[in-house]
Amino acid sequence: MKWLVTGGAGFIGSNFVFYLMDQYPEDQIVCVDSLTYAGNLETLESVMEDPRFSFAKVDIADRKAIYALFEQEKPDVVVNFAAETHVDRSVMDPGVFLRTNVLGTGVLMDASRQYGVKRYHQVSTDEVYGDLPLDRPDLFFTEETPIHTSSPYSASKASADLLVQAYHRTFGLPVSISRCSNNYGPYQFPEKLIPLMIANALNDKPLPVYGTGENVRDWLYVTDHCAAIDLIVRKGKEGSVYNIGGHNERTNLEVVKTILHTLDKPESLIHFVTDRPGHDRRYAIDPAKIHRELGWLPTTAFDEGMKKTIRWYLDNRAWWEHIISGDYQNYYSKMYGNR
Ligand code: NAD
Ligand code: TYD
Repeated sequence: MKWLVTGGAGFIGSNFVFYLMDQYPEDQIVCVDSLTYAGNLETLESVMEDPRFSFAKVDIADRKAIYALFEQEKPDVVVNFAAETHVDRSVMDPGVFLRTNVLGTGVLMDASRQYGVKRYHQVSTDEVYGDLPLDRPDLFFTEETPIHTSSPYSASKASADLLVQAYHRTFGLPVSISRCSNNYGPYQFPEKLIPLMIANALNDKPLPVYGTGENVRDWLYVTDHCAAIDLIVRKGKEGSVYNIGGHNERTNLEVVKTILHTLDKPESLIHFVTDRPGHDRRYAIDPAKIHRELGWLPTTAFDEGMKKTIRWYLDNRAWWEHIISGDYQNYYSKMYGNR
């Protein structure tokens, strides 16, 4: 089978590439990534020379380049991870989110139609459902929860999901969509909560917690997400949406304290800063459908996953220090300077 994986130089996409290469030695993988600030070829170093793997630096919204690539590669399956993904950046500059997340998805689906792709899988997010109140722990997002977005990021992802469903209904494109909760693990860009807090703690810098730190996220170890997507692509019902999550809800403050305790750093490093505009309160996935239909269950418990992740950032300092010594400095002072 030949996979075309977009966004494979980013966090989850690269983990997915490693997952496929590990699980399916016979498969071919074409990784497509335009290498934005979030894409990093160093991440893919270990597979670059592997004959089963090839890399193409292409923007998914560049129709001509995408068609030429599909013409050359004729993939069986497309899995679209490529996206602008950071909520805070979408507040500062929404435009690029529309271009990549919406228009780019449209281009990939047009090419998938043209070249007879057997499955187009859209990697979406639980953020399309908006948020849940903090005082209703009985409520969860199901696949039937109405789309109700809060940020330009989530609105762009929801728009893409609607387009994917329209291509299925109108053109019969064989699609599937997955909506996962927050991921963590190796190779996550240090602008996101967990790697940012690990990096700051290791550098004895303040840990900027938005608002009161009571917002809740539902955390899933990245390899569990990869396994779920693989299962959906192979066995999931065409045209279907699957929620992915492992019932691992934590407040941001709990996550930050776990990091500090594991690294033996003082809680005095925690700094409460101005809240994110439109900050979603709680995400919580009901994963009953994917469990019932496909037998998927997460395998990495939160405590174990956090230990592995912190260990990885300790063992791979060069990877993230390289990032935070570059353009990231400008981003950091713009985002956190006046908070
Ligand atoms: P990431 O920001 O780490 O990586 C995104 C990758 O896409 C980067 O390599 C970047 O270079 C590439 N990219 C961006 N614009 C592109 C374009 N126009 N053309 C080609 N490549 C482009 O993101 P991530 O956290 O790995 O997320 C991957 C996908 O999973 C996204 O679609 C995101 O919405 C979804 N998702 C993420 C999470 C999470 O917790 N991180 C949870 C649920 C869903
Ligand atoms: P993030 O990793 O950006 O993911 P998302 O907003 O897509 O869920 O943020 C996770 C949570 O952590 C979110 O509630 C915002 C909060 N947060 C902070 O408190 N401080 C920070 O510096 C960052 C980046 C996030």
